[in-house]
Amino acid sequence: MVVSQPGQNNDNETFQLLLQYIEKELKFNCHDYNEAYIRRRLNARMLTNNLPQDNFVTYLKALKTTPDEPKKLYDALTINVTQFFRDTRAWEILENDVFPKVIAEKKNQPNRTLSIWSCGCSSGEEPYSLAIMMKELIKGREVVPKIIATDIDDLSLKKAHAGVYSAAAFKTTPPEYLDRYFHRSKDAKGIEKFEIDASVKSVVQIYCLNAITQMPPGTNFDMIFCRNVIIYFTQETKTKLMQKFYDALKDNGWLVIGKSEVLFTAKTENKFYVYNGAESIYRKDRRSLEDRQ
Ligand SMILES: C[S@@+](CC[C@H](N)C(=O)[O-])C[C@H]1O[C@@H](n2cnc3c(N)ncnc32)[C@H](O)[C@@H]1O
Repeated sequence: MVVSQPGQNNDNETFQLLLQYIEKELKFNCHDYNEAYIRRRLNARMLTNNLPQDNFVTYLKALKTTPDEPKKLYDALTINVTQFFRDTRAWEILENDVFPKVIAEKKNQPNRTLSIWSCGCSSGEEPYSLAIMMKELIKGREVVPKIIATDIDDLSLKKAHAGVYSAAAFKTTPPEYLDRYFHRSKDAKGIEKFEIDASVKSVVQIYCLNAITQMPPGTNFDMIFCRNVIIYFTQETKTKLMQKFYDALKDNGWLVIGKSEVLFTAKTENKFYVYNGAESIYRKDRRSLEDRQ
């Protein structure tokens, strides 16, 4: 929760006013994110606008009067850095160990739909990476992948819908995937573009929603990916979200968060167990800790 920090700024009232304005006008609830993060993003916008740091009155005025600033601030608050197959080691473990297990388990179940939620999907690189991996690993029609991709940021989702990326998105993508799953072209400036193939796109359904307050369609997910999203949330919000993921996953379902993110708190430690600690891969566990020992 965003509360005052004595000494950090002599103008906490205007800071709170600014937050209220952001919540009302931008529909972004700052109180779900930690205060240091919100301040950093605000100060970055002040710097870009040549405004003095930590001066919330001046920035609030600029926010009200500069046409593009609300949109730019929203982008700054929802920073959506991502790329295809981000964090190579995690994808190696997923490809060689986790996905083969998930697919093998699925083959023995009456419902052959393998449902994955990519929560905080940004411009689509993560859910499309998942869809590509499914196409690589699932032969025939024995298992049918379905990927639900969600994000709070409408602009990022527009990019996901378009499915057209520049070379920078593929720094960690195996080159053969570019040939197999993308169509190359050049834009008006001669810059190379890569459009995702319709067969990959059709596996992914995209929805705009706030992960904290809303749920995607369907529950009983086999896997949830929420990587590099919760890092900016308050502990209280993280705990709430983890309960939500627990409820949305089927028994023994998989939860993958970002490498540098921490899952366990006193309230979540009974709900998941560590499958691969280094890569932050967990499984839902309905049994108590004692049963497992
Ligand atoms: C750094 S990107 C992560 C993208 C991708 N998961 C990855 O690891 O490459 C973080 C994303 O989380 C989204 N996000 C932040 N708060 C959110 C919320 N409350 N609900 C849904 N998405 C949120 C942002 O809009 C942003 O696109």
